[in-house]
Order: sequence, then C-alpha cells, then structure tokens
Amino acid sequence: MDDQRRVIVDTDTAGDDTQALLMALLSERLTVEAVTVVAGNVPFEYEVENAKYTLDLAGRTDVPVHEGARSPLLKEWEHAEQVHGEGGLGGDLFPDTGITSDEQHAVDAIVDHAHDAPGEVSLLCIGPLTNVALAVARDPALPDLLDEVVVMGGAVGCLGNDTPAAEYNFWVDPDAAKRVLGEFDVTLVDWGLTLRDGSFDADDFARLDGIDTPYADFFETITEHHREFSRDRDGTDGVTLPDSLAAACLLAPEIVDSQGRYHVDVDEREGLTRGYSLVDKHAVLDEPANATVVESVDADLFTEMTLAMLAGDPPETSL
Ligand code: BDR
Ligand code: CA
Repeated sequence: MDDQRRVIVDTDTAGDDTQALLMALLSERLTVEAVTVVAGNVPFEYEVENAKYTLDLAGRTDVPVHEGARSPLLKEWEHAEQVHGEGGLGGDLFPDTGITSDEQHAVDAIVDHAHDAPGEVSLLCIGPLTNVALAVARDPALPDLLDEVVVMGGAVGCLGNDTPAAEYNFWVDPDAAKRVLGEFDVTLVDWGLTLRDGSFDADDFARLDGIDTPYADFFETITEHHREFSRDRDGTDGVTLPDSLAAACLLAPEIVDSQGRYHVDVDEREGLTRGYSLVDKHAVLDEPANATVVESVDADLFTEMTLAMLAGDPPETSL
C-alpha cells in the first residue's frame, strides 16, 4: 500500500510499549521504519531485548533496532519495574533473541530518516524524550523535516502516575520533555486520557479467552504483574495501555473525539513539581499553542482495535 505512513517508534520497551509496537507493526496503515530504544522503564539491555522479541513475534526482524540514550539528559535514571515486573515483560520472561542491533545510534537514525524523506516520517514517542531531544540538538532542522510527532507523556489536569505532579515519561527526563515541547509541535496523549479512555478492564480480559494467538498469550504474560500492581495500588482490575493508545491515535485519528490546541510546557526543576506538564487551557500566558492535546477518544473503538491486534489482524479492521 503506498499511502502508508512511515513511522519510527521511539520506545523504552517494556509492558505496554510492546503492545504499541505490535499495533504499529500489524497496522496496514503504517510502515515501521525503525525502532529506537531509550532509557526508561527497565534496565537498558532488557529494553533492547524486549523490542527485538516483539519484532520477532510479529515476524518483523527486518525492522532495525537502534540503541539510543542510556540515561536521561541530566537527571538520575529511575526505572518502573514495580509496574512492569523485573525485565519489563511481567517478571518471568527474559528474552535472549540473538538478534543484533543496528550499529547506527538511535539519534543519528532519527535524523537520517528525517533527511531521507523530508515531511514523510512520523515519530511515535512512547518513552522518555531523551533520544528526540538529542536528535533536535544534533539537527535543529528536525521539526521541519518530520511529519507528525505523537508523544505519550504528561498528566493534563490530573494526578500523575509517578508522582502526584507527574507522569512517568516526563518525570524521568523532564529536561528532554521540556526541550521537545519547546522545539516541536506535538500531538500529546497524556496519562489522564489513558485513565479515561485507554484502559483494558476485567471484561476486556474475559474476551481474551476466545482469542488463541501468540499475541494474546504475550499480552497475558506482560499484563499479569501490571494487573496485580493495579489491584494493590488502585483497587481496580485491569491495566492501562497509554502507549498503544498513542499508537492508535497515530494510525486511526478517526477514534479521536476531541482535541485542543494549547501551549504546553514541562517543569524540569528538581522538587515536588518535577515533570509537571503545564497546559495553558485558558491561554492566560499569551504563549503560542505548541501542542495538540488529545482530550477524548472513543474508548470502545480503542478496545476493539486492541482485540483485533491480539487476534493477529490489523487493528484498523475493527473500525
Ligand atoms: C508511560 O510510562 C511507562 O511506564 C509506560 O510504558 C508509558 O510509556 C506511562 O506513564
Ligand atoms: Ca513506554
């Protein structure tokens, strides 16, 4: 199909990152040109293997994996293994694929892909924004060379998942998030949207019983620990899928019910509000809008996309 959108998936591959990557790989609307790995959810070598395992599961080891930043720009790195389990795939699965990484650094890969096809390559950013911040530092023309930049990050007008003020991706590398928001016009899929429209609950899990695929088995494996974490912390039975929600918004914008253009900034300072995402909804700061904030998605359609993908179909077949 020649109207496919070209995308690089920038990921701290663990848990829901794997599902976002699968969603992008199985979609006939997207061509995944590369996977770039960034320091985030779990120790870096696990993230790299998790990405390769996911590509292998989809039969797509032709997609190059580029290793990127191994730490945030300035802050000390903290993982999220408490959510995703040791290693990031639920705690019991530690792939050793034997697949080699591409020798090109992730930052160079992002810049080169953008130059090779100006205006055609989009970024799906589902981890801390360190690689993207370094890429724009390397080439300030990058914002003009890319198509869409979809970012999973921030907590817009809601409690964060990492601290009361901040969502994990922005909290881990707030300096990078601030830089990226300052330089690119992004589409933002935040934690609040995830809670409203991007969860997979007990009823959805029950529907998995009728799906007998390696994708569904993998989903059960990677969500088991997360489900336990949600029960203990929030008293809910289910998991959140922020990264696949971002992938779904990129490949199927028709599921977006409402969105707004706002000025968005990030607090990079250490302290209580580190990683806080400021969204100037009433335009009191008199700053130009630099982000499209997705505010509402058809949650049922997103669930159907997820189930279609787990059945091994292109997620958009359910729309
Ligand atoms: C984000 O943090 C990670 O744990 C998830 O993969 C997602 O990208 C949610 O805050
Ligand atoms: Ca992620």
